[in-house]
Amino acid sequence: MALLTKRPKGTQDFLPDRTGKLQYLESTLLGTAKLYGFGEIRTPVFEHTELFTRSVGDTTDVVQKEMYTFNDKKGRSVTLKPEGTAGVVRAAVENGLLNEALPLKLSYVTPCFRYENTQEGRYRQFHQFGVEVLGAKSPSADAEVISLIHECLSVLEVENLTLEINSIGCPNCRPSYHAALKEYFSQYTDRLCPTCLERLDKNPLRILDCKCPECKEIAKGAPVVLDFLCDDCRTHFEGLKQRLAAMEIPYTIDPTIVRGLDYYTKTVFEFVSNQIGAQGTVCGGGRYDGLVEEVGGPATCGLGFAIGLERLLAVMEAGGCEFPQERPCDLYIAPMGEAASIEALRLVTQLRQEGFVAETDTVGRSLKAQMKYADKIGAAYTLVLGDNELAAGKANLKRMADGQQQEVELCQLTDALYARLFEQIGEAGPVLEGLLGQMNPVEL
Ligand code: HAM
Repeated sequence: MALLTKRPKGTQDFLPDRTGKLQYLESTLLGTAKLYGFGEIRTPVFEHTELFTRSVGDTTDVVQKEMYTFNDKKGRSVTLKPEGTAGVVRAAVENGLLNEALPLKLSYVTPCFRYENTQEGRYRQFHQFGVEVLGAKSPSADAEVISLIHECLSVLEVENLTLEINSIGCPNCRPSYHAALKEYFSQYTDRLCPTCLERLDKNPLRILDCKCPECKEIAKGAPVVLDFLCDDCRTHFEGLKQRLAAMEIPYTIDPTIVRGLDYYTKTVFEFVSNQIGAQGTVCGGGRYDGLVEEVGGPATCGLGFAIGLERLLAVMEAGGCEFPQERPCDLYIAPMGEAASIEALRLVTQLRQEGFVAETDTVGRSLKAQMKYADKIGAAYTLVLGDNELAAGKANLKRMADGQQQEVELCQLTDALYARLFEQIGEAGPVLEGLLGQMNPVEL
């Protein structure tokens, strides 16, 4: 029975006030990406399992340990997406988007699912905002996506995230790096975890990303990828550094960043916070020049990033960032009696059509209880509607903040309320002005 009232481990309920914050993040991030020429894409929450094993890679923790995979009723293996990139690339290929003008620039917000050991900042269902750019090979594209993140963080007034960059090479230079890693890790076969022992032959780069404390310790002395880059990768990395410097985007080089997904080539980067505990990586991304081909499309380079929305929210809350205020109730109409309750319903419907937040009684409360409720929901104004008011076609509009009352004609309630709220702009400042700006214009 307890299972009925307990959410699955690693999941979260977003209650209305936090959902509002999440919506603010989503609209700001998608809106900023739009200014950079990105169009939003929505792909399915589940895909054929093979898409992830091929793209994310079958030696990664994500594929080996963390995927929510199951057979559908026809016995086909499907997986809840552990990340956003693979589905976007699949959709671009399937829908022929790569035949159009390149680069193709796509943005998304999506839930992701990973069966992880949960802790603060690490969930089994979480949300990503991300972008993917397909068909742009210049380091200007790398610099542009990084500058988009930089701009998003600045619009949201997020401070103290540091950008760390690295290059992990390409199929040309990686074999010599793999060989060096294999030689190094072969000295520690008695200490590596069983998964990493398997990785030693197949993909020793993945050992650098293992979460086991012992493997992490050993990895500290491993050869560094930057020493193995081919000329092409080195020039690309230098090009990125020059562009970041030109855009005055501060960064540090962290040669230990390898990222947890197999598709990366050349540039990789992370934005990291030291304010939210062990899971401080808020954003991760990089270039994946072989991925489109890997999933069956034409040879097309690509790159992108994803920001974990829960982690971004945590950083913003820890840093005391401002969020837009939720709009409270403009008017609560308190009816007394059956006829008044019908008229109240008609009036709130009319007000809502004009863009006001209006409420009335639907539970049959006494007048006293209704006023208490109006106070609790933060109604700016109340209006009591009884038989006398109905007969006169007039009622008192009461400002809750100071009890000030003004008689208004019921047939002019919309205009009167708009005028009263408008008067308050001076007192409430730009917040209310913004809210009124969202409403349908009402003739005064
Ligand atoms: P990722 O580094 O695996 O990259 O995830 C990106 C971000 O998602 C992380 O930096 C983190 O904020 C968030 N995240 C990941 N796992 C969890 C979790 N279990 N709980 C909470 N937040 C989490 C990718 O997914 C790539 N697809 C990014 C990318 C796009 N690269 C190129 N294009």
